[in-house]
Amino acid sequence: MYQRENWASRVGFILAAAGSAIGLGNIWRFPYMVGENGGAAFLFIYLIAIILIGYPTIVNEMIIGRKTHLNPVGAFKSIAPGAPWWLVGAMGVFSGFLILSYYSVVGGWSLAYIYKTVIGVLNVGASEFDTLFANHITNPIEPIIWHGIFMALTTSIVAAGIVKGIQRSVQVLMPLLFIILVLLMARAVTLQGAGEGLAFLLKPDFSEITSSTFLDAISQAFFTLSLGMGCMITYGSYIRDKDEIPGSAASVIGLDTLVAVMAGFAIFPAVFALGFTPNAGPGLTFITLPAVFSKIPLGIFFGFLFFALLTVAALTSAFSLLEVVVAWLIDEYKWSRTKATITLGILIFLAGIPSSLGYSTLSSFSFLGMDVLDTYDWLTNSILLPFGGLLTAIFTGYIWGTKNAIKEGNKNNPKILLGSWWSFLIRYVIPAVIFIIMLAGIWDTFK
Ligand code: PHE
Repeated sequence: MYQRENWASRVGFILAAAGSAIGLGNIWRFPYMVGENGGAAFLFIYLIAIILIGYPTIVNEMIIGRKTHLNPVGAFKSIAPGAPWWLVGAMGVFSGFLILSYYSVVGGWSLAYIYKTVIGVLNVGASEFDTLFANHITNPIEPIIWHGIFMALTTSIVAAGIVKGIQRSVQVLMPLLFIILVLLMARAVTLQGAGEGLAFLLKPDFSEITSSTFLDAISQAFFTLSLGMGCMITYGSYIRDKDEIPGSAASVIGLDTLVAVMAGFAIFPAVFALGFTPNAGPGLTFITLPAVFSKIPLGIFFGFLFFALLTVAALTSAFSLLEVVVAWLIDEYKWSRTKATITLGILIFLAGIPSSLGYSTLSSFSFLGMDVLDTYDWLTNSILLPFGGLLTAIFTGYIWGTKNAIKEGNKNNPKILLGSWWSFLIRYVIPAVIFIIMLAGIWDTFK
């Protein structure tokens, strides 16, 4: 008989969930969102979104998972049998599949850049990094191979199981990530001229704020905390019955925010110190930063560290994305873990190919001006995740009942006690805010 696993310790769970949360979202996406949305002003709105929406939502998902010890589809089915709420879980499983397909393409770019840094390809003049990146992603074959390597790594860890695969890897990778980040930050803030970058992160420019800033902040909060798609339900389903949840959730949020802010401090001071612009968009990581590294002493070493950081962060998130879909096949269809991971690893690899080809063979594809990868990113982060979060809040708020959820959440003397404040956020604030912001954002995109 298949025995469903649990995390072997509370710290193991926190590291795995933090590993899920901390990813490309913190190191690739967060800095360029800050750059495009007026620096500290965005940071401010983002922090409010994390506290008022992110925290109650992550707690909610972990509670649903632990209560049922099931994957997202099974979890909704078991709390609301015979009702169509399991579709929210199914939407999550679908999102996990879709996100991982393009996430792994970007993870592959990062792996490729580790390699390129080490073999010295990045030793070119600062103005040539545009071309270098363009050449890399417009090659129809090479990025797909790196995407395949990234998926193979992810698949092999998830196949080894919750404790021996995921928990064991994050216990090594997360401390490593932290050490690298501290080194990079120390280097950046001690560069001459770093002050301007620090000011950019600390002094808000509210004139840059538009209605889409709010959608960006909320969609970033969902993405960075791995919310709205059943990831924290799945990871929560492996929490032991004797562990508490609200405090663990707070640690996960704290670590995630810390890493995002540290990444900002590792990136902007260096960008400003060397005279680059902060609002370079998604290319910030792969164009501006290598150029920055090419100009500082020991740049190759720091460049290597940076892409190692990005890869580690991406991998530990990819584990959780794959685990959502794997858990669904194991719980609902009694597949073996090995069969589920290998089959899905291959399918997700194939599904990711169009995202990569969007820059070469499929470059004529355009949806509202977006390429394939950006379209997947938009569909998942601006639509599916906030919508999933909205429905999950309504589910707990009005179907399962916040009283029942609180009973599960307050087990084992948590440091933070859930109460009417949590009910209020789940029942009223979160649904209202997400609804308004999604409408405004969709309006903004299509107008
Ligand atoms: N949280 C991850 C990041 O910031 C991305 C992610 C989203 C992972 C959803 C799992 C689920 O990169």
